[in-house]
Amino acid sequence: MEEMIIRKFKPEDRDSVRDIAWETAFMGESGEAFFSGKEILADFLTLYFTDYEPGSCFVAVSENRVQGYLLGSIDCRTLGLTFKDKILFGLLIKFIFSGGIFRRKNLKMIFAFFLSFLKGEFNMKEVNKDYPATVHINLRKNFRGKGAGAQLISAFEEYLKGKRVKGVYLATMSSAAGDFFRKQGFSLINQYRRSYFCHVSGQDITVYIYGKKQKTAIFD
Ligand SMILES: CC(C)(COP(=O)(O)OP(=O)(O)OC[C@H]1O[C@@H](n2cnc3c(N)ncnc32)[C@H](O)[C@@H]1OP(=O)(O)O)[C@@H](O)C(=O)NCCC(=O)NCCS
Repeated sequence: MEEMIIRKFKPEDRDSVRDIAWETAFMGESGEAFFSGKEILADFLTLYFTDYEPGSCFVAVSENRVQGYLLGSIDCRTLGLTFKDKILFGLLIKFIFSGGIFRRKNLKMIFAFFLSFLKGEFNMKEVNKDYPATVHINLRKNFRGKGAGAQLISAFEEYLKGKRVKGVYLATMSSAAGDFFRKQGFSLINQYRRSYFCHVSGQDITVYIYGKKQKTAIFD
C-alpha cells in the first residue's frame, strides 16, 4: 500500500500547494474553466494561508510529493482583515500590470461577479461567532478516495483543540464534497444560490456552508 504522511506545511511545499489550488479551483477541476492566470488565482486562494498563517496548514505527502493540502485559519476575522489590508491591493496591481485583467475569460468573470454583487448574492449570514476557524481542503485527482482527506481534517481538529477554538466552518460548491464533510461530523448550516458561474456551467451553482463545533476543555 502507498505510504502517506500527514504533516504540517513547510515553506518548501508552497509551490505544490499553489499548483494543487489551480488544479482543483473549480469544484475539484482546474481553474482554467473560469480564469486565465494561475499565479493570480493561486495568490487569491492560498497566499494568506501559506504566508500569513502557515502554522494552521497541513499537507498529505506520498512518494515525496505533496498530494493535497488543508489550508486553515483559526480566526476568520484576522484572515479577512489581513486579506483586505495586506494582500488585496498588491493582488490588484499584479492583476492589472500582468495584463490578466484584460483577458477575455477574466473580463467575463469580473462582469459575472459584479452582476452577482448587484443582486446581493454576496450577503451571507455571519457564522464567525460560533465557528471562528475556517478550512480549505483539496487533493490531486489521483489521490482522492484514499483516506487523506479524513486524516487532514482530523490533524486540523487536533490542532484546533490545542488552540481552544470552538468551531470551524467551510464553504464548498461541490455537493459530493458535502458527503465527505458530513462523514467528518460537519453539518450543513446554510446554502446559497449563486449565478456568477452561469457562463461556465450553464446554471446557477449552490454554495454550501458546513460547520462543526469543536470539543475543547473550556467549552465542554
Ligand atoms: C473532498 C476531498 C477533500 C475528500 O478527500 P478524500 O481523501 O478523497 O476522502 P477520504 O478518502 O478521506 O474519504 C473519507 C470518507 O468520505 C467519503 N467521501 C470522500 N469523498 C466523497 C465524495 N466525493 N462523495 C461521497 N463520499 C465521499 C469516503 O467514501 C469516505 O467514507 P468512509 O469513511 O465511509 O470510508 C477530496 O476528494 C478532494 O480534494 N476533492 C476535490 C476538491 C474538493 O471538492 N474539495 C472540497 C472543497 S472545500
